[in-house]
Amino acid sequence: MSVAVRYYGGVGPVELEILVADQWRTLRDIRLRALKDSPAAYISEYEVEAARGEENWRDDFALPQWVVARRGERIIGLVRSLQVEGRPADERHLESVWVDPRDRRTGVLRTILRHLTEVEPEVRDWRVWVLDTNAVARNVYDRLGFSPTGESQPLTDGSGRSEIRLGARSERVGRSE
Ligand SMILES: CC(C)(COP(=O)(O)OP(=O)(O)OC[C@H]1O[C@@H](n2cnc3c(N)ncnc32)[C@H](O)[C@@H]1OP(=O)(O)O)[C@@H](O)C(=O)NCCC(=O)NCCS
Repeated sequence: MSVAVRYYGGVGPVELEILVADQWRTLRDIRLRALKDSPAAYISEYEVEAARGEENWRDDFALPQWVVARRGERIIGLVRSLQVEGRPADERHLESVWVDPRDRRTGVLRTILRHLTEVEPEVRDWRVWVLDTNAVARNVYDRLGFSPTGESQPLTDGSGRSEIRLGARSERVGRSE
């Protein structure tokens, strides 16, 4: 289901789409591309995700929502916007954030986030966990209006890494230029 063509100043139009459960293969394919391309950016591992079956991927649609960006036939970006259980109703967490390396720095993530704030006007606060080692993403979120909330949690994988939580008010998201 294509929802819009949005363009906030990159090198070409970006079409955004909210995936539905029957598109679980599309979700699987882009998640696996992301994990293969940027393993250091995520806690999930390619081998674990690649072994998941259809039912498992469909379960991921129980909680909305998965947004993909396309340029023509190419799927070039992914963001999950999620209301986390126990967190405020007007807060969303961003997860699984990835843009194809060929399309980076052309405003794809900015476009997706601005679109999310428009289609979810009731949301006041946006949150994202970023690995402390992911300097690029930390810079990107800073450019997109996010700042550290002061919360952090160590990973349990023995790597010594931590996740830090960033946050932004809706009116700031993607409008920091
Ligand atoms: C992080 C990521 C999603 C950014 O997506 P993107 O579409 O390239 O981001 P945008 O083009 O919307 O850029 C947003 C801002 O960040 C800046 N930016 C983007 N990449 C940057 C980089 N490598 N270094 C410094 N600034 C950068 C852009 O210049 C822009 O700021 P500006 O408008 O003030 O110039 C992408 O780099 C990526 O997929 N990285 C690997 C996976 C990852 O780390 N995901 C995040 C997990 S939390």
